Amino acid sequence: MEKIVIKGGNRLSGEVSISGAKNAVAAILPATILAEETCVIENVPDIYDVTTLLSILSEMGAEIRMINRSSISINTTRISRPVVPYHLAKQLRASYYFLGVLLAKFNHAEVSFPGGCNFGTRPIDQHFKGFRCLGAQDSIDQGGMINVHAETLTGSRVYLDMASVGATINIMLAAVKAQGLTVIENAAKEPHIVDLANFLNSIGAQIMGAGTDVIKIHGVERFTGATYSVIPDQIECGTYMVAAASTRGDVLLKNIIPKHMEPITSKLQRMGVDVQEFDDSIRIRVSGVLEKNNIKTMPYPGFPTDMQPQMTALMTCAEGTSIMAENVWDNRFQYVDELRRMGAKISVDGKVAVVEGGELTGAPVCATDLRAGAAMVIAGLAAKGVTEIENINYIERGYENMIQKLTKLGADIRKTYVPEQEIKRAL
Ligand code: EPZ
Repeated sequence: MEKIVIKGGNRLSGEVSISGAKNAVAAILPATILAEETCVIENVPDIYDVTTLLSILSEMGAEIRMINRSSISINTTRISRPVVPYHLAKQLRASYYFLGVLLAKFNHAEVSFPGGCNFGTRPIDQHFKGFRCLGAQDSIDQGGMINVHAETLTGSRVYLDMASVGATINIMLAAVKAQGLTVIENAAKEPHIVDLANFLNSIGAQIMGAGTDVIKIHGVERFTGATYSVIPDQIECGTYMVAAASTRGDVLLKNIIPKHMEPITSKLQRMGVDVQEFDDSIRIRVSGVLEKNNIKTMPYPGFPTDMQPQMTALMTCAEGTSIMAENVWDNRFQYVDELRRMGAKISVDGKVAVVEGGELTGAPVCATDLRAGAAMVIAGLAAKGVTEIENINYIERGYENMIQKLTKLGADIRKTYVPEQEIKRAL
């Protein structure tokens, strides 16, 4: 088992480059199955979720070649069986994108129920609603595999009951080859939805309106290959912005799209953080006190739920009482107990957390999911003393080289290996 050990109190300063977006590449890699020629995907982050997606593609028969550290050549033309291996699909949420893509390509898909972070029930009824509108039928077999099948896929109007990111993406993927026009209403508007649409259009799809709540897709028959660069990760950038603020640092975040950061930028400014925007970078500085704030998570362009734990960690270091309301997921405050071990004063009532600002002290804590893990790192950087974080595989699922990036900014952070015998002795 590995742990992250942080000696808190160092002020972060310097520059950090943001990697490609996890949740964009999680849709784009499965989407390469549609291409009838080689695709080159650039700005791919080196994270576990990408490794798992590439393993799925490779086991299915794709030819994958690393061109350099972040560019990958993928040829999927040899994939002939629309089945995703169970042992890999269960490791991540995004495996459900193979349902839409295989349905489009083969009129049939078999994928096990997806894994991913656990913060309450994560239904996928809207994905099925969309597939059914296009003419597909679905069933679950005894082994827990989802089967989706259609004789033909026909464009249709799909109204989503909620603006689900995953359902919008899956329906887009299934509709790109359906006959005629598909209209997705109440679509999600997150930057990675626009990025997927741009990738699909670059290989020949006809998608309009991505980034608004109505997406129109004219089905086409053939897809070419393309070279495509993934957008920067909004949440990775937001995490470093908050980390910089929590240590009262001065950090320049490079290779980003400042527009995507606005929901986070505006909240940090209200807390007294100085945020300076440039064309493709953003500078974070704190010179005065950090002030309290009230935040509600909302679908884009609202404040992202995937920044909720990190921002709550920051609120524990601000002056006064802040409120964080979680509006997207039912149970995304599981990490609060871990922050309490560090002295945080947080009370949770349902989907609302009340945070009394103060000082944190280092402690042994656990990453309960990906963004909760990022929150522990932020708390550890801001705390007095040493914080040891367990379950760091969650963090590595979604953050490229976090330890190296933070070390370059001046953090005292390292990964240590805990031998099996030591764990057994402690039990
Ligand atoms: C995506 O999850 C992200 N995952 C999540 O990021 C993110 O938290 C979430 O969008 C919201 O932004 C990936 O992109 C791989 P949803 P997704 O469908 O698609 C309800 C991270 O940390 N809902 O937009 O699964 C659902 O219960 C991860 O990077 C239904 O009821 O989220 C939730 O309350 C974690 N029925 C809300 O909608 C459905 O069929 C939003 O879910 C689908 C969703």
